Amino acid sequence: MKKHNLFLRYGLLLLLPAYLLLHFGFNLPASEYDEVPLLNSQCPPGFKKNANNECIAQNLYMQYDSPNNKGVGGLQTGLPEIRDGFSPQEIDLGRYLFFDPVLSGDGKIACASCHDPGKGFSDGLAASIGANNHQLTRGAPSLWNVGYLKRLFWDGRATSLEEQMQGPLFAEEEMNNTPENLLFSLNGIDAYKKLFAEAYPERDASSPIALNEIYTALAAFQASLVSLNSKYDRYAHGYHKALNEKEIEGMNVFRSFVARCAECHTPPLFTNQQFAVIGTPEPEGMPLDPGAEVPFNDKSMRGAFKVPSLRNIEKTAPYMHSGRFKTLRETVEFYTKGRGHAVPEGEQLYIHWHIWNPELSDYELDRLVDFLKTLTDETFTPKIPETLPSGLQPTINL
Ligand code: HEC
Ligand code: HEC
Repeated sequence: MKKHNLFLRYGLLLLLPAYLLLHFGFNLPASEYDEVPLLNSQCPPGFKKNANNECIAQNLYMQYDSPNNKGVGGLQTGLPEIRDGFSPQEIDLGRYLFFDPVLSGDGKIACASCHDPGKGFSDGLAASIGANNHQLTRGAPSLWNVGYLKRLFWDGRATSLEEQMQGPLFAEEEMNNTPENLLFSLNGIDAYKKLFAEAYPERDASSPIALNEIYTALAAFQASLVSLNSKYDRYAHGYHKALNEKEIEGMNVFRSFVARCAECHTPPLFTNQQFAVIGTPEPEGMPLDPGAEVPFNDKSMRGAFKVPSLRNIEKTAPYMHSGRFKTLRETVEFYTKGRGHAVPEGEQLYIHWHIWNPELSDYELDRLVDFLKTLTDETFTPKIPETLPSGLQPTINL
């Protein structure tokens, strides 16, 4: 056994120079190819590569039971399933695409224009602004932990990341592109053709880039945006000093039967992924946003929105689908102002039963805000590319 090991070790050492010579010797002369960055062959942090070159999510919550086996709101509860299993190369290709305005009709807007890593992958606007300065009616949600979500958009109208992205890509008022033009632009860029061939080695390297390859790479990148290492998480895993006294008071209010926040914003994702009518106000003078009533074609869901995750919530002001609340303090105060207090006259909304009148004191509201800030964790923020295969500038927050 020992001898065998020794042979392996020294045998490999001898082979190494030969390998290096071959490896670099072959690649060096192709100077044009060298300008194209190779895709990262390592998984991003929070993922571990398996023998099939797939990145599999790794986190401490995996040691706990699934949400269905444990009481709602328990701190040591498992997470729902994540979209993982993408290759490191797909994820890295998605990173380039995400910041690249070549994906838009006029070459000016990237996904990152409205999902800025510096703003919790949101844009700091009450409602986002798309192509030709078109004013949208809803705010850009954070993309942290989006790989865990079963439905996407505030109204839940998409059921996968791949389906979701076709919204912004091809909407006239967002990125204003068409599938044909998107393929035409990317297939006209040699650097992208090489990177796609590298990310999809099972197909012929000379075949053109296909739509589903673009969608998969963008989905892979987004699903890698994991935030589960906040102060709160350290506390949840048993390190009690991670939160101070005021933050713990806030957590207790959050989980209390009086405030009921954790019934909907259920740990560890801080959303139960359901839809709820809570009756938030629209911006002054704007009509009621029917929300999930439209895609679900269900009157009882009029004004319902997907319960948003509160991870990195400190970074994504202003708040709610309409961006009506500028601060976290204003947002939590909404819940104490009386059930349905902001519902427009003449509207019959089925306000969720967990929304009532908890009569929280100013002190308790301040502690809730303290607690929400313990959910901040951006340690796995991906690197913004310095240059892009398209030669355009990475475009972040217009
Ligand atoms: C013009 C601004 C803008 C651009 C560009 C944009 N988005 Fe968004 N994004 C939004 C807004 C606004 C929403 C919410 C819309 C809604 O719910 O009706 C959203 C929603 C999302 C969601 C759903 C998140 C959730 O929690 O439900 C994902 C995922 C997403 N965008 C990814 C992308 C990707 C990928 C791109 C690039 C292909 C992109 N976005 C481009 C503004 C933008
Ligand atoms: C019945 C379910 C429910 C309960 C209970 C609930 N929320 Fe919410 N929460 C929602 C929904 C749905 C939204 C999005 C509403 C919208 O956009 O109009 C939301 C939005 C938020 C937001 C803004 C998120 C963002 O991305 O803009 C914060 C912060 C928040 N809730 C905190 C709390 C706190 C604190 C409590 C307890 C006092 C609480 N919630 C109780 C369902 C609930």
